[in-house]
Amino acid sequence: MIWRVDSWTGKPYAQDVGYDDPEALRAVVGKLRGLPPLVTSWEVERLKELVAEAQEGKRFLLQGGDCAETLADCQPAIIANKLKILLQMSLVLIHASKRPVIRVGRLAGQYAKPRSNPTETRDGMTLPSYFGDLINQSDFTPAARRADPRALLDAYGHAAMTLNFVRSLAIGGFADMHHPEYWDLGFMSRADLPDALRAQYRETTERLAAALHFMEAIGERAVEELTRVTFYTSHEGLNLHYESAQTRTVPRRSGHYLLTTHMPWIGERTREIDGAHVEFFRGIENVVGVKLGPRVAPDDAVRLLEVLSPKNEPGKLVAITRMGAAEVERRLPPLVEAVRRAGRRVLWVCDPMHGNGMTTVTGLKTRSFDDILAELERTFDVHAALGTVLGGVHFELTGEDVTECIGGGLSEADLDRRYLSVCDPRLNYRQALELALRVGAKMSAGARG
Ligand code: PEP
Ligand code: CO
Repeated sequence: MIWRVDSWTGKPYAQDVGYDDPEALRAVVGKLRGLPPLVTSWEVERLKELVAEAQEGKRFLLQGGDCAETLADCQPAIIANKLKILLQMSLVLIHASKRPVIRVGRLAGQYAKPRSNPTETRDGMTLPSYFGDLINQSDFTPAARRADPRALLDAYGHAAMTLNFVRSLAIGGFADMHHPEYWDLGFMSRADLPDALRAQYRETTERLAAALHFMEAIGERAVEELTRVTFYTSHEGLNLHYESAQTRTVPRRSGHYLLTTHMPWIGERTREIDGAHVEFFRGIENVVGVKLGPRVAPDDAVRLLEVLSPKNEPGKLVAITRMGAAEVERRLPPLVEAVRRAGRRVLWVCDPMHGNGMTTVTGLKTRSFDDILAELERTFDVHAALGTVLGGVHFELTGEDVTECIGGGLSEADLDRRYLSVCDPRLNYRQALELALRVGAKMSAGARG
């Protein structure tokens, strides 16, 4: 079948939110179509080159950010703190893996959420679920929960503001990589950080700085690239009205580029091979991620990868596995083997968040630091045993002091203190840094062994 920007409209559309005013939707989509893009095809192609190198084991990918970004959190400190923790984690991973790290934020557009249940009932009243700020609002009133097409424009504007700030920080020397004392960016003095963690991070960054100075002294060109702080953006490509409105051809290139983000991904709930999302994403030039959970049959995953990248293009696909710590050793090997046997090119990335959810007795969604770490470590081991490479990690995190995940300094009793996520629980600053150090230790041990 021939692909068109709107050929997805003829397919079953999972997680459709059902706009009740088609005329208003058409007007908004028309407006979005004419607005300048958030990213460019050059950046998209550059990311594809980097991901292609990561597929060969030459780079490592770090993807992270909120489960659900909100318009209210489009604030300078919150955005900067998210970049800071991603930057710090990337330094730890560069040091441990001895490879450059590709930084990809879940930001500037992570505003749409798939829901297991399309409606929510409270005190006898049933309303549509909250599908993220791209769609509706979280307040439990009929007006707030109505899918409003104008939210698409509002979210687009906030994505643009976020990205503008991210780019300015990155270009303006957000962190001068020659000075490890700048890399902590004020975080290291925080009282809640255990001394051991602080010391470990300090040691890592000092060694990294010394190595950079040495490489520079011998005129190594890679230094220039290592020290340039670049962030790419990603979000789940859930609302196809929004994504297709910003999908276009560009001068002097063939094919269509989705220009709301560098790297969209297809979620676990929308990767139906005959569905609208796969139809849409098979036609664009971007690097595309696809989430693969414990229920995916290996043969179906192979078919999905074939559909999404018929030419098996280097750098095109990122397979983000999220099996859960308990299942990963059983579910991952047959999947990886099937993909390898079929000769499909992917970058294997581990999302240790979405297979490890649990609910406390008081009804809070949480995740345990130990489960998250266990899935990561087991995923490294599975790939090592099969001779494949785990080329990246994917986290839900924030630079804020939230209390949403258990472990890494927090117990279940702490969760009520600062639980701010409107969707899934995120790692806080300390938990995220600790996790990077633990993953780093695992990677260095793997490299030695
Ligand atoms: C997510 O990444 O926020 C998400 C919903 O993940 P998944 O599709 O893997 O469940
Ligand atoms: Co999530």
